[in-house]
Amino acid sequence: MSNSADTSLQTTPSLKRTFQNDFMIGAALNTQQIMERDTNASRLVAQQFNAVTPENVMKAMIIHPQWNTYNFEWADKLIEYGKKNNLQINGHTLIWHSQMPAFARRLQSTDSFRLFFTDHITTVASRYRDKVYSWDVVNEALNEDGTMRRSPFFTKLGEDYVTEAFRLTQAAAPNTQLYYNDYNNERPAKRAGCIALINKIKAAGVRIDGVGIQGHWQVGKVPLKDIEESILQYSALGLKLAFTELDIEVLPRNFQGADVGQRMKADPSLNPYTSGLPDDVQQQLASDYEALFQLFLKHRDKIERVTFWGVNDGASWLNDWPVRGRTNYPLLFDRAFNPKPAFYKVIATRKGVYQ
Ligand code: G3I
Repeated sequence: MSNSADTSLQTTPSLKRTFQNDFMIGAALNTQQIMERDTNASRLVAQQFNAVTPENVMKAMIIHPQWNTYNFEWADKLIEYGKKNNLQINGHTLIWHSQMPAFARRLQSTDSFRLFFTDHITTVASRYRDKVYSWDVVNEALNEDGTMRRSPFFTKLGEDYVTEAFRLTQAAAPNTQLYYNDYNNERPAKRAGCIALINKIKAAGVRIDGVGIQGHWQVGKVPLKDIEESILQYSALGLKLAFTELDIEVLPRNFQGADVGQRMKADPSLNPYTSGLPDDVQQQLASDYEALFQLFLKHRDKIERVTFWGVNDGASWLNDWPVRGRTNYPLLFDRAFNPKPAFYKVIATRKGVYQ
């Protein structure tokens, strides 16, 4: 760590302390960070965050690479890291169409696919029973228009697979909070589909505790009205809210959302800020984050957790998606692990809210 980052860390306010009476403040951790090979990140996590989500290591492709073969090494290390640093862990994610293991993609018969589905949920959820605070049980089951995504789970198991996933997780991890997680589920059509899905789970007598709005948004276009309406509508169902993968992208692209299957061709015009973020964009980013946290604070009684999708700009997935090798600036800490203007705006939103 450079001396300048060192000094600023000692004098920097702390997100987790600032919002301690409001909601948990989380960060997604990559494998290097989980293995504690990134000392700058480790220091920032200890200072700023009280919740973590594994960015990749609990996904089926990594944790369950073959029939009857599980690779728990990194996930176990995450649990140990969380314990040591007093971090609440959100398990991410049991059922997702992306990052599925190759063997599961190849399964033809419904019976063997169902066996994979059942065994995967039961094994992973029971191993981390009482060790993870919450699970993103199912991730991204919906299309933008609110209909069910035609994923391998839907095609092979039928639309009740979501309810079934919650039922199995509840049995394996009865004390864990169970969430449905998606992107763009603050937008009206997808939100309506999400509410219908939640109601189906509840009508089947199966527990669902919360809904995760991922929060992959774009600078100058954060849909505050839709977000507020969603907080109200989801909490009216008796559910808790979490903002599970927050980042605000500053680079150009021609679609919204976070479908990892969607990509754009590299072009220098799509990577305009390689030598630094212009001040006007920096200020816009700061005011977007400020408005967002003002809204979160207004509804702090309904919000459990706000998790950033990465510790700092250098670690963000948005440097490689939807175009590889770009220089993006979506988070509150810069590439040198120093707080950005957006960080100070976020901290300042808490002033005057209940001292
Ligand atoms: O680990 C391999 C490495 O061995 C290999 O050399 C390299 C070559 O591409 O790939 C590495 O794997 C990458 C992995 O991240 C770890 O860095 C995958 O290609 C890459 O596709 C994967 O991307 C992740 C993406 O989900 C797909 O799983 C991102 O890190 C992760 O931030 C992103 O997270 C998702 C959430 O889970 C769900 N919501 C959307 C969100 C953003 O896409």
